[in-house]
Amino acid sequence: MSVRAAVVYRSGEPIVIETLSLDDPGPRELRVRVAATGVCHSDLHVAEGAFPSRFPIVLGHETSGVVESVGADVRTLRPGDHVVCCISGFCGQCEPCVTGHLSICQDKGVDRPRGAKPRMVDGDGKAIHQMTGISGFSEAMIVSERSCVSIRRDMPLDLACVLGCAVLTGFGAVAHTAKVTPGSIVAVLGCGGVGLMIVNAARIAGAGRIVAIDRVPAKLDLARKMGASDVIEAKDNDLVAETMALTGGGVHFSFEAIGLKTTVETAFRMLRPGGACTVVGVAAMGAEFSIPAMDLLLERRLQGCYMGSNHFPLDIPRLIDFYMDGRLNLKTLVSRRLPLDDVDQAFAAMKSGEAARSVITFPGVVQV
Ligand SMILES: NC(=O)c1ccc[n+]([C@@H]2O[C@H](COP(=O)([O-])OP(=O)(O)OC[C@H]3O[C@@H](n4cnc5c(N)ncnc54)[C@H](O)[C@@H]3O)[C@@H](O)[C@H]2O)c1
Ligand SMILES: [Zn+2]
Ligand SMILES: [Zn+2]
Repeated sequence: MSVRAAVVYRSGEPIVIETLSLDDPGPRELRVRVAATGVCHSDLHVAEGAFPSRFPIVLGHETSGVVESVGADVRTLRPGDHVVCCISGFCGQCEPCVTGHLSICQDKGVDRPRGAKPRMVDGDGKAIHQMTGISGFSEAMIVSERSCVSIRRDMPLDLACVLGCAVLTGFGAVAHTAKVTPGSIVAVLGCGGVGLMIVNAARIAGAGRIVAIDRVPAKLDLARKMGASDVIEAKDNDLVAETMALTGGGVHFSFEAIGLKTTVETAFRMLRPGGACTVVGVAAMGAEFSIPAMDLLLERRLQGCYMGSNHFPLDIPRLIDFYMDGRLNLKTLVSRRLPLDDVDQAFAAMKSGEAARSVITFPGVVQV
């Protein structure tokens, strides 16, 4: 079948809307009619060449949709199911999987093997790649059964998509990676889609104070709506000194959700003894951090976080229940909806920092 999709032919080049051909689903694959796809900074990192990737590529990994057809060996999903897709597909058999660390599975198996018939080709028959097995900036896509979880039908699909990355990552960073405790003091550096969800999740976890930091004042207003108790606008000010003064000696948990060397180092330096800094933002390839050795002596920790250390087949349905229950503020997170043809505008809004989360919606699939 033919679909319209947003293709990046080479890193740094503009996005082109093309008509592509989709293959039929393989035995453990599905064809998903895309309802909505959120625009994540990781898409921008790939498009700009900051992450290594194969090109040409259809980006978009934060996707919801409706299953249209399934391969012969698919057992967990049926046509008509509503799904959220996630790049944390897992094998269930490698050491990280069997020890419960699904998000760092070493054998995801969500792409077709190299040399196999491509899932998607352009008009010249050239293979078009996906981002870890997902290509949500397209009207439909072929994905592995492993990349999807079925969700309840009453969940609006234009909000459900953001559960696949920003919400799962932000929530998981708080609940699974850092394990924020009730009453603790939290700082969040960067209040984009991921950072705002960290704020929301810290609130749900019962944090005593939540200090949100961003360079864009409008983001700080959103952070307050998400539950921040204090905000600091990042300019040329000394963020460590300000946070130390505000919190009477530093925070128990800091989260970096930007992806810069300087802000990671700042996030670490604002910890009180015994505190943990969780680095969610992805810095450019080759970046290194510098932290004072003596600060580690008092049991401060600096830790990575991949997709919120998630167990997405469990986490996503539970997060939807949180939304239905009024605890997850997805309506504040999803700040604008755009058609596929305007995907470059969504990237521009992300670069300027003006949008919380832009979502590409596909007419006819999104419920209103
Ligand atoms: N670890 C993971 O598994 C994972 C998953 C998803 C996203 N990410 C990464 O998380 C980061 C955030 O993603 P996002 O989609 O929320 O991005 P985003 O662009 O929506 O948000 C980034 C925010 O940081 C702010 N900012 C930028 N520079 C700043 C500075 N110097 N000081 C203060 N604030 C600043 C921006 O104003 C913006 O609000 C990215 O690096 C992305 O690649 C990581
Ligand atoms: Zn993402
Ligand atoms: Zn595995």
